[in-house]
Amino acid sequence: MSENISYTAVVPVAGTGTRLRPHTYTYPKVMLTVGDKPIIGHILDKLSSAGIRKIVLVTGYLGNKIRDYVDSCYSELRVSYVEQTEQKGLGHAIWLTRTNVSGPMLIMLGDTIIDADLSKFTGSPDDCIAVKEVSDPRRFGVVETKDGYISAMVEKPENPKTNLAIVGIYSFHKSEPVYAALQSIVDSGAKTKGEIQFTDAMALMLKNGHKIKPLQIDGWYDCGKAETLLMTNRFILGRKGTAAERKGCLIVPPVYIDDSAEVGNSIIGPNVSVGAGAKISGSIISDSIINEHATIRDMNLENTLIGPGAVVRGFRNKLNVGENSEISL
Ligand code: UTP
Repeated sequence: MSENISYTAVVPVAGTGTRLRPHTYTYPKVMLTVGDKPIIGHILDKLSSAGIRKIVLVTGYLGNKIRDYVDSCYSELRVSYVEQTEQKGLGHAIWLTRTNVSGPMLIMLGDTIIDADLSKFTGSPDDCIAVKEVSDPRRFGVVETKDGYISAMVEKPENPKTNLAIVGIYSFHKSEPVYAALQSIVDSGAKTKGEIQFTDAMALMLKNGHKIKPLQIDGWYDCGKAETLLMTNRFILGRKGTAAERKGCLIVPPVYIDDSAEVGNSIIGPNVSVGAGAKISGSIISDSIINEHATIRDMNLENTLIGPGAVVRGFRNKLNVGENSEISL
């Protein structure tokens, strides 16, 4: 893939990830594992495979952990960091990058993994926003359209007029009008739901006559909550999970089991990620993420997230059960 020299990607990852507590008490959301690597790794792989090399990460909450990982695993990319010390909203996070970006920009949110070709965005003659039809649009920014372009945009509306949700990718041929709109929002002190919203800046651009096209993408995978993180894990393993073999184990693909994990006497899969140095024995596990250096013994788990280094032990009973007995543990 040739280098897409003109575009700078802005990836805001400063949020505290409250919906993913307790995991986000010690890890920033983008450092949580999904499939074979942290969320931010999937995002950077996507940008890199689209030929984008210049990336600005807006970090804040536990930002050092993100920086350590990115600097050691993605040294081929030109990543710079902007610090958002207070999480005042997505609009504020993007506004902070105004002196780091000029020319075309692509914004990709830190809790979005997509299965779509980014050249649909960078190759379009229009400025674009990714949208997807969702059943309950009230927790998203929602767009209305007219003649193929976006005519209005509202953040988390009580009564959405469409079910087209904004799903975290934005492309602009010129960054200047975006930062000008953000500057107006910041100067005016306008907040929606207590935050400086990027959607409000986009709405202002529309009001000023700016044309933005909605680009529908189906392959959008949210990582914002435990359930959606596990669904995204399923999707990623379905794409690139392996059928690992471990002595004494039944492995039901797709799974990802790190080479350094010790797995014995267990049934693992489908849709299980096991991180480096994890130890699993005597267990049945499906649809779960077991992070690095976690220990699982004698457990039956599904739809489970186990944090790094956590220890979970079940128990084995010795029973002597007579005819017609009924026992539930
Ligand atoms: P979210 O709205 O999902 O917030 O942000 P969050 O903190 O990550 O998660 P919850 O809602 O508390 O569970 C969407 C994206 O915007 C970034 C987040 O890091 C995430 O990638 N963001 C949000 C910022 O960088 N700064 C902010 O002030 C707000």
